[in-house]
Amino acid sequence: MKLRSNLLLPFLTLACTKPFYSSGVRAFSAAARNLPPLTQPTQIKEHIPLAQKAMDYFDSSPDPFHAVQTSVDMLEAASFTELEHEASYKSQLKPGGKYYFTKNKSTLVAFTVGEQFEAGNGFKIIGGHTDSPNLKVKPRSKLTGGSTGCVQLRVECYGGGLWHTWFDRDLGVSGRVFVRGEDGKIEQKLVKIDRAILRIPNLAIHLQTAKEREAFKLNKEDHLAPLLGMAVKDALEGKTDKEEKIEDGWTEYQEPLLLQMLSSELGVETSEILDFELNLFDVQKASLGGAYSEFVHSARLDNLASCFMAVQSLVEYSSTEGALASDKDISLVALFDHEEIGSDSATGAGSPIMGEAVERICNAFEPETADHVCTHSKSISQSFVLSVDQAHAIHPNYASKHEKAHSPKMNDGMVIKRNQNQRYATTGVTGLIIREIARKAGLKPVQEFVVRNDCGCGSTIGPIISSSTGMRAIDMGCPQLSMHSIRETMGTSDFTNGLELFKAFFEHFREVDDSFADRN
Ligand SMILES: *[C@@H]1O[C@H](CO)[C@@H](O)[C@H](O)[C@H]1NC(C)=O
Ligand SMILES: [Zn+2]
Repeated sequence: MKLRSNLLLPFLTLACTKPFYSSGVRAFSAAARNLPPLTQPTQIKEHIPLAQKAMDYFDSSPDPFHAVQTSVDMLEAASFTELEHEASYKSQLKPGGKYYFTKNKSTLVAFTVGEQFEAGNGFKIIGGHTDSPNLKVKPRSKLTGGSTGCVQLRVECYGGGLWHTWFDRDLGVSGRVFVRGEDGKIEQKLVKIDRAILRIPNLAIHLQTAKEREAFKLNKEDHLAPLLGMAVKDALEGKTDKEEKIEDGWTEYQEPLLLQMLSSELGVETSEILDFELNLFDVQKASLGGAYSEFVHSARLDNLASCFMAVQSLVEYSSTEGALASDKDISLVALFDHEEIGSDSATGAGSPIMGEAVERICNAFEPETADHVCTHSKSISQSFVLSVDQAHAIHPNYASKHEKAHSPKMNDGMVIKRNQNQRYATTGVTGLIIREIARKAGLKPVQEFVVRNDCGCGSTIGPIISSSTGMRAIDMGCPQLSMHSIRETMGTSDFTNGLELFKAFFEHFREVDDSFADRN
């Protein structure tokens, strides 16, 4: 990465042509988030409580396991019940019911059954992903730092992170640990060591040649090994219970300091730890930023911002008086793992999870005499997938990277992403349906994004789900900066913009879809 000094201009706030700062309301003084002592425009102030709820969600979700757990907590608080995966849905599902299930504890599907639902009716689906690029602890974690006296960990790059942003950050460890319980059963425990136990230090500028400084190239194998500690290590190491090593020698390859931290965090013996799936995360909490708190800075906005809004919208929609009573369809949120590495896995959007869920829910309500193939294909043609993933807001220091007429702005609402080469699933029809829904609900008009012709285009779970199920789909997202950096930025009011649009989707989709003379 080459930096020119004109690319280092910080931005203080977001200029806005609308009467954004006109109405003077005394500053919102949330001491916890250190808001600035300025007069806060109502246009931002009213969005802050929701943004703070989202920020708590991000802070509690340093990995897909925690993202699913945090979401499940929200669902359970709203009386959603967990489905028994191996039992028939026929005996478990009822009209008006609210359900969820998880897979690998890293993928989540939650849905409500409209009280007017019949087999063959549609599925209103909001899809997102729980994973973000990060550094995962390798199967053999121990890395002896040679004569440097440093204790390090071996880590593996997951997804396409902006890895240089991981340098000089305070890093913790989270994920799940497998433990042998007292009865001999293997249990899983989520763990989150929310302290700066790890760090990947930069090399001092004085030790770099001019050429090295200019290139700022990093070797992903050699330069990302985080530091876990120093000399005290020996003292601590002596404490591991050497007598009780696991037979297959697994323990020998693990950094003892890491095992000890896990054991004290979980309240188990190190000898009871059988394995883990761990990753590093930045312990800095999400914060409100900008002169008027019009930005939210956080890790993993891609794609936890979408996950939060999706779960929150299903919770709010389903607890709205009368909403499910008149609903003819299924309202469903599906949050998949493994999007950042292509979705091709047992828990990714490329897995049978979506198709199977539709099939099983449909079957549960099908009369015995029904022609199953017919009901199923009717259901597919009445369904719609709103695939949500963050979008690229125009960057003031790199404005030429955007196509001028398709340059989304932060705090200006959700973005429809389109690509004629099907990197995004949006079509003329699906884009129009969402614009109609927004219009009907009196919401802010959606923004449009198309990548420049001379630039490659990302992709999402949208085309994957629509190609495997045959459902209509659209790709949308909130505009943000610094995608895949360890810390990203989005607009504070866009949480409201997204949430309102998702609720409107659940509320108005059937009516809008039926207003098309032809669904084909
Ligand atoms: C389970 O989730 C973890 C964390 O995201 C992931 O690393 C692992 O690959 C997942 N397992 C499966 C079977 O998908
Ligand atoms: Zn994403």
